[in-house]
Amino acid sequence: MTDRMHLLPKGADDQAQLWNGAAGRAWAEECTMMDAMLHPFQERLVAAVAAQGGQRVLDVGCGTGAVTLAIARNRPAGMVTGIDISAPMLAAAEVRARAAGLDPRFLLADAESHDFAESGFDLVVSRFGVMFFGQPVSAFANLWRATRPGGNLCFFAWRSAVENSFMSLAEKAASSFLPPLPPRQPHAPGQFAFADRDHVAGILRDSGWGEIDIAPMDVECGLPLDRLPTYLSRFGPLGRVMDGLEPGRRQEVLAHLLTSFAPFIQGEEARFTAACWQVNAMA
Ligand SMILES: C[S@@+](CC[C@H](N)C(=O)[O-])C[C@H]1O[C@@H](n2cnc3c(N)ncnc32)[C@H](O)[C@@H]1O
Repeated sequence: MTDRMHLLPKGADDQAQLWNGAAGRAWAEECTMMDAMLHPFQERLVAAVAAQGGQRVLDVGCGTGAVTLAIARNRPAGMVTGIDISAPMLAAAEVRARAAGLDPRFLLADAESHDFAESGFDLVVSRFGVMFFGQPVSAFANLWRATRPGGNLCFFAWRSAVENSFMSLAEKAASSFLPPLPPRQPHAPGQFAFADRDHVAGILRDSGWGEIDIAPMDVECGLPLDRLPTYLSRFGPLGRVMDGLEPGRRQEVLAHLLTSFAPFIQGEEARFTAACWQVNAMA
């Protein structure tokens, strides 16, 4: 837990605990690796912002800030805002902003309930940062209120765990070694909460968004092979379990996981297809 957790609203739930605990630390410490892996999505969001032409942009669940900074690079200071509930991730984002000589606004707050007042954003974007809301309809209604009439929403979310085996294989492969992880509940806050297209469309409709377009997008991604052990040991639900294992046991499980990931290995890289939705809507 970080010393800035007290700034978040009380009862902001497990997601705040998670992203201010092991998951947030892993993202903060390994942001270079994660940004390289997810770079194709950054490029697409930067292109969406350029095509849109608006100036005031909100990046929801901005994490360590790669997308926020890439968007801020082409606009006047202070026009781009990143919001996140993770203090360690935002701290990493602030360090990167200073190093890059950029001046976006970073808010440590819950995007579901934060009062954006008269922000009037032209565009709200997110790279995998909007699937964690406890009350998604009220969260997207809050983002709708923060957007000017006619402004746009553009985000990426994962399709199902079955279609994203790179993201879900580790927990399956480890099941013969470790006690079973709690099953993922469809629609529950988490990585695959937006797997069901109709569910996402319903959330957006009920929260006031129009012109909803939810398009499947398959994106080739890669990770240097020598980073795969770090990825498997620190990320996703299994990463959190691995964190608590004694070192010998962790090595044993990791060796088994690396064997299971052999189908993804091409030369010096682990390569996979990210099965996602690109979601666009208008306020
Ligand atoms: C999968 S990470 C993606 C981070 C970043 N968008 C990126 O692509 O590098 C999800 C992010 O959503 C943030 N998040 C989760 N729930 C949130 C909420 N209610 N309000 C703001 N941020 C939230 C997490 O702290 C985390 O930084």
